[in-house]
This record gives sequence, C-alpha cells and structure tokens, in this order.
Amino acid sequence: MERPKLLPVHGVAMLDFIAREWSLVESFKARPGDLLIATYPKAGTTWIQEIVDLIQSGVDVEHCKRGPVYERIVFMEWTGLNVMTSRKGVEVLNDLPSPRTIKTHLPYQLVPPSFWDNDCKVIYIARNAKDNAVSNFHFGRMNKMEPEPGTWEEYLHRFMTGNVCFGPWYDHVTGWWNVREQHRILYLFYEDMKEDPMREVSRIADFLERPLSEQQLREVVKLSTFTMMRDNPMTNYTTLPTECLDHSVSPFMRKGEVGDWRNHFSAAQLEAFEQDYKEKMAGTDLRLRDSLP
Ligand code: A3P
Repeated sequence: MERPKLLPVHGVAMLDFIAREWSLVESFKARPGDLLIATYPKAGTTWIQEIVDLIQSGVDVEHCKRGPVYERIVFMEWTGLNVMTSRKGVEVLNDLPSPRTIKTHLPYQLVPPSFWDNDCKVIYIARNAKDNAVSNFHFGRMNKMEPEPGTWEEYLHRFMTGNVCFGPWYDHVTGWWNVREQHRILYLFYEDMKEDPMREVSRIADFLERPLSEQQLREVVKLSTFTMMRDNPMTNYTTLPTECLDHSVSPFMRKGEVGDWRNHFSAAQLEAFEQDYKEKMAGTDLRLRDSLP
C-alpha cells in the first residue's frame, strides 16, 4: 500500500484522505448524550476507549469482546482506506443509536460545532511531549496508513515543527486545556493513569455518572492494564491486516511506560527540545510530567 501524504485542513496537517473529505467531518451532527474521547495520537486513546467501554457495559467482560476496539468506539474523522470499517466513520456513526461514544484526534478548533451545541461530554487525555513523540515515531514505522516517519532525528524535527498528523502536539494539548472549563471536559493525563489507575478510573466512572463498586473498579483496572490489553486481540489491533499495521516492525502495544523517551533522546536532542518546548509552552499553565517518582 502506498502511504498517504499530509494535506492542511485550516492550517492543521491532516492525512490526505481525511482532508479530501473534510466537509463530511465538519458537518457531522453530534447528538445530546454523545461522549467524545479526544486525544493527540498515541496519548493513550485505546486505553481510555477500553476503560470507557468496560464502565459503560457495567463491567461486562464478554460484551467488551464483541468486536475490536475500533468497531466498538468509532473513529469519527476516519474517511478513507476501507480498513477499520467498510464505511467512513461519520457514516457508521450516523446509523448508530444514541447515546454514542466517539473517538477523535482532532484539535479543539476542528471539532464539529454540533458537539458544543449539544453540550456533549468529552474525555481528553494528554501525554508528555517526549513520550508522545517517541510513541508516535514507532507507530509511524509500523502504520502504513500515515507518512513514513524517517529516522528518529528526522521525525523529532517534524514533531517539533508540527508537520505531523493532526498538527502540533503543543497546540493540541493547550487548545483542549484552555477550554476545559467552557464545556463538560474531563482532562486526564497518561502519567496520572499510570501512577494511580484506581483513582483515575474512578474519576472517569464519576464523570460518566456510572459509579463503580470497589470490586468493579478493581476489575476495570485489572482488565485495562498494559499486559491485559497487549494480549487481548480486541484491544491490541492485531485484527487489522499486516498491510496496514505491521506489528513485526513495532507492536501497537509497544511499552506502555512513562519515561521511555530517555532511551531515544540524545543529550543534544534533549537540550534543543527543552529549549523549544519552553518557548512554545511559555503562555500556558498546563504542566505535564515526563517521569514518575
Ligand atoms: P507506547 O508506544 O509508548 O507503548 P493510542 O492508543 O493513543 O494509540 O496510544 C498508544 C500508546 O498507549 C502506546 O504507547 C501503548 O503502548 C500505550 N497503551 C495502550 N494501552 C495501554 C495501557 N493499558 N496501559 C498503558 N499504556 C497503554
């Protein structure tokens, strides 16, 4: 398969097959009760999807094995390459009954306005920039549905300039952060989830107004650990053909850690990255942790 290119949508780099059908995405009609799971790619989307599905099902493990995660919670802007579904994300969603749970990687400013007109809830998860970049680099190597990442040095440069799928990480995490009090948004951090999954899953359940018993909470945490999800074909993306995702290059469930960036950044890369980060993030009070105690 030839890899897609990037095309701008309102100045944000987008996969060409999404950009070409942008009007379909832009005009998508959210409904009251829809839940949006929004992330920058590789920030922990699948993790949140599985947790949300477990909570919404009343922790019914068998029900959560009814299909791969990308069929259970549809990727809204996925408009091309009939891979994950035989139809475009918006078309599949249009046929689903309410309430729907929807995945997106869009930055805040590109989300169809109908989500806000209907006061929909959003769960956003952010991950520290360095681990997010490393995870994206390895994903780009194995994912034929996005441009080649090149070498780590080349990819890191592109990540810093923002010429990567769904645009600059910096704008994405701050864009959602800035509006978290204007809408019903639960803004989570990957690092907090790793540090104390019981606490964070409980927050998610409360936000969904589906509080869990202590035993259910433990069950959700157990079923959504990295190893459980890595070994579960309904969450590890091994159900997609190798021509799309080649797990022999790098598995989708790769490491699932905080701080793997230390194994990738040279001293010079780290210095340049941190300097640039300071400048780009100067105007925000958003703080992300790149290691855990
Ligand atoms: P790594 O590449 O660092 O391992 P997304 O779902 O947004 O594509 O994000 C994928 C990243 O989240 C990968 O990171 C993956 O391993 C990690 N991940 C997925 N499930 C996880 C879990 N249950 N616990 C921790 N990390 C998880």
